[in-house]
Amino acid sequence: MNILLKQQPMSTIPRKVIFDTDPGVDDAMALFYALAHPDIDVVGITTTFGNVYVEQAVTNALYLCALAGRSMPVTQGVGKPITKVAEAPPEHIHGADGLGNLPHRIALQGQPDPRTSAQFIVDMARRYPGEITLVAVGPLGNLAAALQLAPELPTLVREVILMGGTVLESGNVSPVAEANIWNDPHAADAVFTAGWPLTMVGLDVTHQLILPLTLFQNIAQHHQHIATDTLYHAVQFYSAFYSQHDPVVAHINGCYGHDVLAFVVLTNPELFTLQAGRVRVATDGLAQGQTMMRRKDISYPQHGWHDDIPPTQVCMDVQADACKAVIEATLMRPWLQTPEKSPAK
Ligand code: RIB
Ligand code: CA
Repeated sequence: MNILLKQQPMSTIPRKVIFDTDPGVDDAMALFYALAHPDIDVVGITTTFGNVYVEQAVTNALYLCALAGRSMPVTQGVGKPITKVAEAPPEHIHGADGLGNLPHRIALQGQPDPRTSAQFIVDMARRYPGEITLVAVGPLGNLAAALQLAPELPTLVREVILMGGTVLESGNVSPVAEANIWNDPHAADAVFTAGWPLTMVGLDVTHQLILPLTLFQNIAQHHQHIATDTLYHAVQFYSAFYSQHDPVVAHINGCYGHDVLAFVVLTNPELFTLQAGRVRVATDGLAQGQTMMRRKDISYPQHGWHDDIPPTQVCMDVQADACKAVIEATLMRPWLQTPEKSPAK
């Protein structure tokens, strides 16, 4: 049912995006891709817990923007799941600092915006009705909190694209659960049932694309800039984890790019094959965090699969080589500015 290639050409006006993130190495890749891409206008970054504690997420988002010579609102969001007990961040994947344990950081300009992430999302959606795209690549508590603050939010935002979940591919934190959904399944179910135009970029596609470490080495050599040097350092740590623990990645010294694909589907939808269907999240038990998709037109007797909201568009397939080429070409563009250092104390 309803399998289609995603064809939605970008307009020439850059798309206003709020980036909801738990940076995180692949989050950093995604942020740099968005900053480098001429069709994307990142109007703010909302942070959440996940790969790191939320305080570290704020620090990293500010640092990555400043490294690239860019300034924008960065807000602190939720620090724990709605119901379940928070787990410790996965230091073995992203490093204790979320960026592969950087040996040092330079002092740069930048302070967080005082609003919560949820308030910022609501404020921006009201200020630019129909214009904001939410690209969410961490646990979904900020989006769920924004829905609580403004139940009309689904009529105000243009689109939501999230990295999370999986339909046919095995999970990465349990046989059925992907990490972002697992970290806050109640928030995720609220997001999947809110009724906004929603695209899911899950492991079904992110596990089809392995990014070699040499790609990030080439980008760093090309730019000779502290931002891309920092990304290369972080990806070395992240790739070491994947190369040691994932048999599919083991023969390539590289990693999955998970979060960056949430932006590639925005800029290059023609590279993805989608299927439309209702998605719900298992919130308890052994299947906690599973994203279950209604893939057939069957009138199920069980409650919860009704059709009074638009279906989620789920990415099921990706043209992996073309996707990798787009990521490389975008990060090779001349997008970096000189970072502004903090005044000496
Ligand atoms: O499962 C992949 C997701 O979990 C990505 O968002 C990555 O950053 C991690 O948090
Ligand atoms: Ca992430």
